Amino acid sequence: MGLLSGKRALVVGVANKRSIAWGIARSLAEEGAELALTYQHDRFRDNLEKLLPELPSGAITTHLDVGDDRSLAALRETLGVHWPHVDIVVHSVAFARTEDLQARFSEIPREGYSIALDVSAYSLISLTRAVLPMLQAAGGGSVLTMTYLGGERVVPHYNLMGVAKASLESAMRYLAWDLGGDNIRVNAISAGPLRTLAASAVQGGTALREVPERTPLRRNIALEDVGHAASFLCSDWAKNITGQVLFVDAGFHIMGV
Ligand SMILES: NC(=O)c1ccc[n+]([C@@H]2O[C@H](COP(=O)([O-])OP(=O)(O)OC[C@H]3O[C@@H](n4cnc5c(N)ncnc54)[C@H](O)[C@@H]3O)[C@@H](O)[C@H]2O)c1
Repeated sequence: MGLLSGKRALVVGVANKRSIAWGIARSLAEEGAELALTYQHDRFRDNLEKLLPELPSGAITTHLDVGDDRSLAALRETLGVHWPHVDIVVHSVAFARTEDLQARFSEIPREGYSIALDVSAYSLISLTRAVLPMLQAAGGGSVLTMTYLGGERVVPHYNLMGVAKASLESAMRYLAWDLGGDNIRVNAISAGPLRTLAASAVQGGTALREVPERTPLRRNIALEDVGHAASFLCSDWAKNITGQVLFVDAGFHIMGV
């Protein structure tokens, strides 16, 4: 029996084998959860199909663009065909246009700001709403999102994504309050830097190089560290933890210099 035996988990945000969503999916599956995984593009669907054999059992796969309400409605229909309810929702999604991430902060245009906050923060609310009846049908559940220290403090180069993460973390707390009466918990993991597709757009490798010497545990984190923390937060062992940001960063966030 794993920590998540008998639970059904929707995981959004696998682009390739380096994706945090993939690390989480693997850990949830190892702990006994049944999985539904979404992909944003055909290219990512091909990546996902190649990864599936690594899971102990199969997974439902389906398309999802979190920026499109029809796509969110279609996701709910597809899931409903396979499952009577959902216990776990993992939101591991972020996007900002490269030019808006690289612009001087004071020069970020209105449109780029809206796109980044819509896809990276509002999508936690719209995704949760789309599957809410299925979480309620389970008698409660766990929603998890991914954030970064740059949402709380200034991290050079993180820029617009920092504002998006601040919004995401606040949305996480308000959702935790709103849905707590339905026994639905909502939390975030603040991960240390990992080399992924999304990260390559914002940090240029600097954070990864600098982290070990300025971190209590003197090392970078690995994908499976985030997966294990996610499995814990989504399990009944965390049944009284909600509205929380759990740092999985080898302690980096406690440092003052
Ligand atoms: N890599 C890091 O260092 C790090 C650290 C802390 C937090 N995070 C966060 O982790 C999450 C996952 O990022 P990652 O680093 O695994 O990179 P990634 O590129 O592997 O994952 C980002 C995912 O977002 C998805 N996405 C973007 N726009 C979408 C849309 N409109 N509809 C559906 N999906 C969409 C992409 O398809 C991709 O799967 C993000 O929220 C990121 O900000 C990353």
